[in-house]
Amino acid sequence: MATYQNILYTLDVSIATITINRPDKLNALNRATLAELRSALEEVEKNRVVRVVILTGSGNKAFVAGADISEFSSFEKNQGSELAQKGHESVMDYLQNFNKPVIAAINGYALGGGLELAMAAHIRIASDNAKMGLPEVSLGVIPGYGGTQRLSQLIGKGRALEMIVSAQAISASQALAYGLVNHVVSQENLLETCVGLAQKIASNSPKAIGKAIEAVNACFDFSKNGFDEEIRLFGECFGTEDFKEGMAAFMGKRKADFKGK
Ligand code: COA
Repeated sequence: MATYQNILYTLDVSIATITINRPDKLNALNRATLAELRSALEEVEKNRVVRVVILTGSGNKAFVAGADISEFSSFEKNQGSELAQKGHESVMDYLQNFNKPVIAAINGYALGGGLELAMAAHIRIASDNAKMGLPEVSLGVIPGYGGTQRLSQLIGKGRALEMIVSAQAISASQALAYGLVNHVVSQENLLETCVGLAQKIASNSPKAIGKAIEAVNACFDFSKNGFDEEIRLFGECFGTEDFKEGMAAFMGKRKADFKGK
């Protein structure tokens, strides 16, 4: 793994943990951090050993407190569009379509771009001190890293609009009730809980998992028919070594040893 200034990377057996590491700035996403995040994710994607990614923030106060406001405070219209476009393409969409499951461990504030990052991940688990919100309209802008779309998909239009136009953050328990996060645990148990889930995921077929992510994502892609995509991807599974191993293990009454091929 390359050396990074703004993120930390660890690999434990098959679980990679990427930590946004700018605690003095509550892990705000500046350009350099986004670029490093993209490049770390690319490395992780190529690394066959890695089966699951946990994404979290450094310190006990914030997951990510948003895009770095100091970098765009003097932007004009075109620069604003470019900022959003680049954020979507290089990190948020990339993460959503990542072929290994990404669990966001929301360990504190997840605001603006921070919540958008967590929503681009596949699964969210929060600590009980977490606060989540899209406060952009209080700054005179709207969410620009996919927040208007992904929040509506995850919690429904009425709740999303209430959060977006009020700019108010919600508590972890409210996020749980909304279905914005899957579980809420104490901060000290957060990573352990994420690792426990990651271990369960890691024993399953990486090939099938990648196709399951693609099929579920198709549900939210208006250019695709999700049912047709499911049929196509289901068929593709039959051509994988993982499928042969899964069948052989079941018939042989043993645990499958998937190679991700
Ligand atoms: N961009 C840039 N810097 C940020 C930031 C952001 N999104 N969020 C926090 N920081 C910086 C602060 O400027 C401060 O830096 P400084 O010590 O050099 O002045 C540092 O992080 C600590 O933040 P601070 O505001 O002092 O902490 P707090 O505990 O008083 O408040 C928040 C925490 C999260 C409520 C507050 O930082 C905040 O409102 N941040 C902006 C959230 C936001 O609007 N995000 C959406 C951006 S589109």
